[in-house]
Amino acid sequence: MSSIVAAKDLVKKFNGFTAVDGISFEIKEGECFGFLGPNGAGKTTTIRMIHCVSPKNSGELRVAGLDAGVDNRDIKRLLGVIPQELNLDEDLTTYENLVLYAGFFDIPRPEARERIMELLEFVELKAKMKNRITQLSTGMKRRLQIARALVNQPKLIIADEPTTGLDPQARHLIWQRLRELKKRGTTMVLTTQYMEEAEQLCDEIVIMHQGKIIRQGAPDQLIREEFGAEMIEVKDAKERVFRRPATLEDVFLKLTGRHLIE
Ligand SMILES: Nc1ncnc2c1ncn2[C@@H]1O[C@H](COP(=O)(O)OP(=O)(O)O)[C@@H](O)[C@H]1O
Ligand SMILES: [Mg+2]
Repeated sequence: MSSIVAAKDLVKKFNGFTAVDGISFEIKEGECFGFLGPNGAGKTTTIRMIHCVSPKNSGELRVAGLDAGVDNRDIKRLLGVIPQELNLDEDLTTYENLVLYAGFFDIPRPEARERIMELLEFVELKAKMKNRITQLSTGMKRRLQIARALVNQPKLIIADEPTTGLDPQARHLIWQRLRELKKRGTTMVLTTQYMEEAEQLCDEIVIMHQGKIIRQGAPDQLIREEFGAEMIEVKDAKERVFRRPATLEDVFLKLTGRHLIE
């Protein structure tokens, strides 16, 4: 498998503060690659360098064989981004938001219309196509952002904390859609604070902490490396001890001494 993103000793500083501290990683075509870490770990900063909205200070970063920082326009056309913040046009309807976006990519109108209808179906928003953004729930807005990221048929989808702040039901709907994309062979980069999300979706993950990658591997591999096949002892709310298999959350706690979501 060839790599779609390759980073070597990547550094990003903000006025002397090092947000991304010399990280190296390789994302292969067809895989779902996860950046895990607590708030402030440097996940979004890394993602923003990949889609060329924030220039690196040093290191190498190649996306689809192109040089990030040089071939920015070409790289942007190849990517579909679901940003952490909700940034839809509130004055427009669901449908209009997608039409506007298709316009940026010079997709001919009839083709754009057809693709948009398919995407609205895919994210289960056809019934809301004529509604204004202000009338959508947060989960719906997220799903619309997924549709928008797919408008230009990207080679790589980047989702920055796509389920943070959603209720469990809305979260599961998003997971379902992302899993479907994965089934279709879409290459995905995902950042998350939720271990369960990473275990469900990611083939390969890196754990970030204070701008550094402290561990990389497949979820089950990381668990095996830290805990072997052993059960771990934990206490329930009533201080009763019981044993269960270790999870990715346990790995994170062991490595950083912190809970992911604080
Ligand atoms: N534009 C910026 N200016 C100054 N500091 C920033 C900026 N963006 C991010 N940071 C800092 O960089 C660190 C990493 O942030 P971020 O990449 O957003 O983390 P994460 O996405 O993992 O929560 C944080 O300490 C954050 O405050
Ligand atoms: Mg972030």
